[in-house]
Amino acid sequence: MAGLRLSWREEAKKKVAWKAVELVKDGWIVGLGSGSTAAYAIFFLGKRVKEEKLDVLVVPTSYQSFFLAVKEKIPVTSLDEHPKLNLTIDGADEVDKNLNMIKGGGAALTREKIVGFASEKYVIIIDETKLVDKLGLNMPIPVEVLPFATSVVINKLKETWKNVKIREGKGKVGPIITDNGNFIVDVYCGGIENPEKVNNKIRSIPGVVETGLFIKMADLVYVGKKDGKIEVLTKT
Ligand code: A5P
Repeated sequence: MAGLRLSWREEAKKKVAWKAVELVKDGWIVGLGSGSTAAYAIFFLGKRVKEEKLDVLVVPTSYQSFFLAVKEKIPVTSLDEHPKLNLTIDGADEVDKNLNMIKGGGAALTREKIVGFASEKYVIIIDETKLVDKLGLNMPIPVEVLPFATSVVINKLKETWKNVKIREGKGKVGPIITDNGNFIVDVYCGGIENPEKVNNKIRSIPGVVETGLFIKMADLVYVGKKDGKIEVLTKT
């Protein structure tokens, strides 16, 4: 809407999204993350496709990013046609100083992890509120679970963490269903000392499809700051 000023967080998200989209080169296969920050990136990529006739194909990580790509007229491909991607641009819910992350606030974690894994470069775009000293203090670890295994998985998780909940839908009664037809179980762990160990522990439970802990996956993180600057964090 004309005249309506965006909050600093929205401005920051737009800035980092544009900076990430500037990395994209002609002929590339690009993974599209999910969430509100990734949505800005999809919009800007669409702008480059239209204005510069940039020749790219994209692999969306959710129905959200799929429909946004279609709206922006960016040609979509699949992992079957292109199992190797040049770059993925994605948001995150929390990022620590080692660039480990919690993702899955939007329940798209499994496809995001697969697409990020398949990419030569995995670029994360966040505003500075997402930077944390320790993962998991302010949000749960989202875990995608096969519906058939839900109670078994929850019982096992509760041996370690007391607060484990199936994520309920908004605009739908009962649990949310992921784009893969599964449930999300949120594990409130009150801070994670060793993210890699916790990730392995949760993934070892049969019925767990994937966790929202992304260990050593991000290559580059663009952090949009309140003062308008962008901080660049790189994998060491
Ligand atoms: C989607 O499941 C998440 O992993 C998103 O990447 C994450 O929630 C970031 O979303 P925002 O950019 O909307 O904060």
